Formats: sequence, C-alpha cells, structure tokens
Amino acid sequence: MKNRLVVGNLKMHLLTIRERDRYLQSMRENLRNTVIRDVDIVLCPPALHIEAFFSVLEKQPIFLGAQNIFWERKGAYTGEISPAMMSSFGVRFCLVGHSERRNLLGETDNMIAKKAAHACEENMEVMLCVGEHPEERDRGIAEDRVRKQLRKSLAIFPKGKISHLSIVYEPIWSIGTGTTPETHEIARMGEIIRVAVGDIFGSGAGSYIRVLYGGSVTSQNIRRVCLEADMDGVLVGGSSLKPDEFIRVIKNICED
Ligand code: PGA
Repeated sequence: MKNRLVVGNLKMHLLTIRERDRYLQSMRENLRNTVIRDVDIVLCPPALHIEAFFSVLEKQPIFLGAQNIFWERKGAYTGEISPAMMSSFGVRFCLVGHSERRNLLGETDNMIAKKAAHACEENMEVMLCVGEHPEERDRGIAEDRVRKQLRKSLAIFPKGKISHLSIVYEPIWSIGTGTTPETHEIARMGEIIRVAVGDIFGSGAGSYIRVLYGGSVTSQNIRRVCLEADMDGVLVGGSSLKPDEFIRVIKNICED
C-alpha cells in the first residue's frame, strides 16, 4: 500500500522574504519533534520561494510541489514555468486543475489534460483536482460533474504513468469556507473516482492511484475527512499556512 499523502498548498501567501523565512524556520522546528510514519508530505509554495524552500527543507522528509505548470518544455511562453524547470529545482509533485485556476483564470479541461500529460512525461507526480460547484451539488449532479472532469482531464494521460497520478476531490463550496461534506459523502466520491479512473484506463487502474480530499481540512476534522472516509490523503490550504497546525494534521494521520 502507498503512503498517505498530505499536501500543503500555500497559494499566493508568504508575501515577503521575511515572512517566508519565518515560516520555514517554524516548519523546521515543528518537524524536529515529529515522528513521521507512512505519510508523504508535500509543500507547494509560490514559485518564487521554491529555491529557498529547497535549501532549507532539503534534509527534511518533505517533497516540494508546484501549484501550477505549463504543458511545453521550453520556448516563448511568457510567464509560464515548465515541469522540466521545476524538476531541476528539486520539485517532484505538481497540482493541476485547481478550481481557483479553473474559475479565475479560465483553465479548461483541455488545458488541464495537456498539463497533466506533459508533467508526467517529465516524471513528475501529478495531483489532479476535481470538484463540483455549489449549484451542481444542489442540483444533484456533483458525481456527473466529477466523472466528466476526469474523463476530459485524463483524455491524453499515458496509461503507463497511472501510478504517478493522484486525484484530489475538492468540492468548490468547501474551499476556504470551513464547511466540509459528510464523511460518507467523501467516501462515496472517493469510490466514484476510483471507478471512473478504472473506466478510463481499464479495470484495476483505480487501485493504483491515490485519492485525496481537499477543502477546509484542519487537525480537528482530519480523522473524519480522511481516515474515516478511507481517503489516501489530503490537500490542505489555510491550515498549511500555520506550521504547527499543519504538523498536527500530519501527526493525527500518523497516529492512525
Ligand atoms: P482550504 O483550501 O484548505 O483553505 O479550504 C484548500 C485548497 O484550495 O487547496
């Protein structure tokens, strides 16, 4: 069985060098007193901070992740960063298709499919985010929505790389709101995701991937949204900005 995955998404926070250095120092101190068992930890800082995160956390049991990547290797793509560049800076994981990028920047399933396929060709671990809008939940079409996102976003993903794929279920209404689905709802969506991945790549494929939950995860609800819902990990936004709280989330998973 694969280790559980705990991913901190720092989004567009840590505005200054000072703020970043304080965060890193606190993370290092918190890690010093922590026993980590059967859990992989990933931190996704703003791209500007990746080098500093790498040099401070290099000897720590933490992988680095990109919040976003582009689908070409190099060239005239102003403002973009490729998986090859990320890899050369020590970044192993990348988020693809976060709802904030889909909704605020107009990322389509087609763009996300290209990003996911290219990132795994460059040997990155891909964490593909899916999830429904609140009105889709109200209309009872959340499951259809997630199946459709998976079908389109994985349309060109190479089958041979499936073990490098994680799917993150993030209901949009839960991100940053303090509201989470019931345990049984998360568990059911986890099952739907595994079946959908099996339908796309062939039966059995669903057991090779990790399925994560994201949306208002805290050290208080981690048992309910991850362990009891039988998920393979979590994507943590707000709670990852406080190193002591992020480490408590990890400890509570390790104690399972
Ligand atoms: P949140 O964010 O934990 O603050 O809800 C999760 C995410 O968007 O990745």
